Amino acid sequence: MLKNKRILLGISGGIAAYKTPELVRLFKKSGAEVQVICTPSALQFVTLKTLSVVSERPALVDFFDEETGMWNHHVNLGLWADAMVIAPCGSNTLSKMVSGQCDNLLLTTYLSARCPVWIAPAMDLDMYLHPSVQEHLNTLKERGVHLIDAETGPLASGLEGKGRMAEPENILEVFKSHFEAPDNGWKGKQVMVTAGPTYEAIDPVRFIGNRSSGLMGIEIAKALITKGAHVNLILGPTHLEVPEEVQLTRVESAQDMLSACENIFPNCDVGIFAAAVSDYRIKEVYTEKVKKSADNWNLELAKNPDILKTLSVNRKSHQKCIGFALETQNAENYALQKLQQKQLDAIVLNTVGENTGFQSEQNSVKIFTKNNQQFVTDLQSKSDIATILLEKLDDWQILD
Ligand code: C5P
Repeated sequence: MLKNKRILLGISGGIAAYKTPELVRLFKKSGAEVQVICTPSALQFVTLKTLSVVSERPALVDFFDEETGMWNHHVNLGLWADAMVIAPCGSNTLSKMVSGQCDNLLLTTYLSARCPVWIAPAMDLDMYLHPSVQEHLNTLKERGVHLIDAETGPLASGLEGKGRMAEPENILEVFKSHFEAPDNGWKGKQVMVTAGPTYEAIDPVRFIGNRSSGLMGIEIAKALITKGAHVNLILGPTHLEVPEEVQLTRVESAQDMLSACENIFPNCDVGIFAAAVSDYRIKEVYTEKVKKSADNWNLELAKNPDILKTLSVNRKSHQKCIGFALETQNAENYALQKLQQKQLDAIVLNTVGENTGFQSEQNSVKIFTKNNQQFVTDLQSKSDIATILLEKLDDWQILD
């Protein structure tokens, strides 16, 4: 499973450190090699001897080996690893990771590591919710560090809530899905997905929107994670849950969505545009709630920017753009026109029917590519449609 994978396990100070020998044992049982690096305060909660025995190699804490004087070379450690996880990651280590401090071996190794890095935070619930901690978590996520979110339950303080380090079994699962994602064209790709509706404000309480739930885009994000891609999800207003592994940007209006996409897309290989963007917005948004008075109310609308087209026509040569279309008549012709006009690599045409489309769990789509390939799916769950879409695009070498 994790055979011969080299994992650096960084342990910072916190009561959850007592679970780390078990985490080492699980990694080892799955075939991984594990090098443990502790911060000095981790040793208040777990011993180097225990960690050395279970990992079958000396667990490290100092820059120099006290007995032999040998330098524990943080650069070599960073280069050695296929993956690094800091578990538990307390607030002190978290903030030092953000600011680039390196007053211990674990932090210097983190700064030197070229491999993907995960953190499994653990702290008391109010600390976890503190804006500085949340801001630090977001900063690290923006820099590409993966979060294994804290779990909810009884805490060492006697309080109950979110802040427990993810259970070792759950941390192992994250690594299994990372290393076991079979080789495919999506693995390691940076993908941006737009999803959900946009809301265009009329006044502080009213808006124009549409019935999109965002489910199709969220299912695409999940399928991408399973395939080992890094996902940036730009999501309009929806109450649906989003997988922790994605880098999430919530937006409201089409203009917000455009600015988020303009920030993120330059660093992506592929954009999948599943959002149901409102074509128009209110020309002048009222700053105060409009009182009802006249029988009729004419609102002047202005056209929204076409996010997909804006990014697609200006993209770099290696970047790919996949659009969606929803049509009620002459559907195929319109979809093919959009494929061409928006200069897309592929377009996914939604079927409009009783059990498909907005707010439905199911969908049936037709996929067309710029190279004239096409595929029609059955009526299936949106999760299955997402997997089929990714597999087809990969098979047709759209990602190359
Ligand atoms: O032109 P139409 O709205 O039918 O195109 C649909 C495709 O374009 C979808 O992929 C949708 O996400 C994207 N789109 C966009 N910005 C708009 C309108 C549509 O990104 N303003």
